[in-house]
Amino acid sequence: KKILVLNGPNLNLLGVREKSIYGSQDFLSYFEDLKKRFSTIQLEYFQSNSEGILIDKIHEVGFEYDGIVMNAGAYTHTSVAIGDAIAAVQTPVIEVHISNVYQREEFRHHSFLAKNCRGVICGFGLDSYRLGIEALLV
Ligand code: DQA
Repeated sequence: KKILVLNGPNLNLLGVREKSIYGSQDFLSYFEDLKKRFSTIQLEYFQSNSEGILIDKIHEVGFEYDGIVMNAGAYTHTSVAIGDAIAAVQTPVIEVHISNVYQREEFRHHSFLAKNCRGVICGFGLDSYRLGIEALLV
């Protein structure tokens, strides 16, 4: 099985940015843990701060991979285009968030992606990604 973990804007700064919300572990070291845990599947990681590059990646893997676990960051709340890209491809997408977006500002309560995703996981810290992968494996 092939699964892509896809991170959007500002998530390259995990471990540095707003630690009280997003924790102090950097994503690359967490991703190493994920690869060890899911050693029987082909796990890949990609991050971009650009909406169009994220869309290109969804198109690139979206007819080939078995799943995408995507944290679109703030694009979750703004991007009709990423929502449309998810609808356009065949690969199931799980939307994940590190923080519980429903405990936060009102503008974080709406997702343009969720309707086109298999499901949504939020609020479990970095463990949200692991749970997203588990959801794709059942
Ligand atoms: C986030 C939540 C978003 O509202 C925010 O813009 C992020 C991170 C999360 O993982 O909790 O960048 O997606």
